[in-house]
Amino acid sequence: MSYQLTLEPLGATIEVEEGQTLLDAALRQGIYIPHACGHGLCGTCKVQVCEGEVDHGAANPFALMDMERDDGKTLACCATLQADTVIEADIEDEPDALIIPVRDFRATVARIEQLTPTIKALHLTLDKPIQYQAGQYVQVQIPSLGQSRAFSIANAPNADGFASEIELNVRQVPGGAGTTWLHESLKAGDQLTVAGPYGRFFVRHSAAQPMVFMAGGSGLSSPRAMIQELLARDCAQPITLIYGQRSREELYYDDEFRALAAQYPHFTYIPAISGDAECGDWSGARGFVHEAAREHFAGNFSGQKAYLCGPPPMVEACISTLMQGRLFERDIYTEKFISAADAQGTRSPLFKRV
Ligand SMILES: Cc1cc2nc3c(=O)[nH]c(=O)nc-3n(C[C@H](O)[C@H](O)[C@H](O)COP(=O)(O)OP(=O)(O)OC[C@H]3O[C@@H](n4cnc5c(N)ncnc54)[C@H](O)[C@@H]3O)c2cc1C
Ligand code: FES
Repeated sequence: MSYQLTLEPLGATIEVEEGQTLLDAALRQGIYIPHACGHGLCGTCKVQVCEGEVDHGAANPFALMDMERDDGKTLACCATLQADTVIEADIEDEPDALIIPVRDFRATVARIEQLTPTIKALHLTLDKPIQYQAGQYVQVQIPSLGQSRAFSIANAPNADGFASEIELNVRQVPGGAGTTWLHESLKAGDQLTVAGPYGRFFVRHSAAQPMVFMAGGSGLSSPRAMIQELLARDCAQPITLIYGQRSREELYYDDEFRALAAQYPHFTYIPAISGDAECGDWSGARGFVHEAAREHFAGNFSGQKAYLCGPPPMVEACISTLMQGRLFERDIYTEKFISAADAQGTRSPLFKRV
């Protein structure tokens, strides 16, 4: 059984299977509806139901309030159809976006590497190459939960835009069901179901401007792929990476970025440590990512394109610092690693589109 979904203002009509979410159906047809967490937590995928009937599914009450439900709003990542339906979505034209329909992949775990005490790298071999833009993410099905979790792809695709092997950097969240399963039960040789690519966190190559990447925790994954891609494409614009961790032992891929900074004069790498006790003989930047960025740029970010990736509080602090430093919403792109703990207040009070 399936229903017809018409998406305005595009006027496109697609089939939605019973039980399939509106977001899944749209993305698999190459139609982009803004989204982030993919499972009812952040409210980014909110759409207006103009005609028809939907089931709101597992929408979090903070991401979709009662008042909004009464107004005919729903979350495309959770909602399923009960009748032929028309929705209106906030679909923006994005000149740097490739139209890549979401697909399912069977992934075999080639190896697992312990990058830091809390972060593991999962190296996955896919049953067919995946096309994606560096910075995008996949949804990994967690067998023990019957749910998926989002993880950014930490390596750039090949020059043709495809890759048969992807790397995910997974931080174990205390009390987190999915990341604990990935850390404690997954082994080399196991198989996983992965869907993607998702998201609009990728380099705006058409802008041809200097770029600052700001990353915290496991949020280095997307910037790593994006920087790998920029350097492989011989991008001549200045590139700065400011990367923060609590302690030195959590600073993964530090040697790799130091080597890149030595090799490419237009690439600057600034690691920063925020914890007090664990610094030892650390002579680099201290403090949070936004503080290290403010110091490096002397508080003036004008002329940059900024790409922020990591936990929501880090991203919010960076947005404030960038805006105080003369950068505006149109030049700031974010990927927030939202989890169930962040469900309240994940939309930036500073941004209209995040
Ligand atoms: C676009 C995107 C990309 C991402 N990329 C990465 C990546 O590359 N690497 C990475 O490590 N992470 C990434 N994440 C984050 C990753 O998806 C989360 O760490 C993950 O969702 C947490 O899953 P979990 O099942 O372990 O935790 P969950 O079980 O979902 O719980 C998360 C936290 O919330 C708490 N919690 C659970 N339920 C509730 C509740 N109802 N109310 C309040 N608190 C609750 C838990 O105790 C725990 O502390 C990304 C997230 C997004 C949205
Ligand atoms: S993407 Fe739908 S609520 Fe986050």
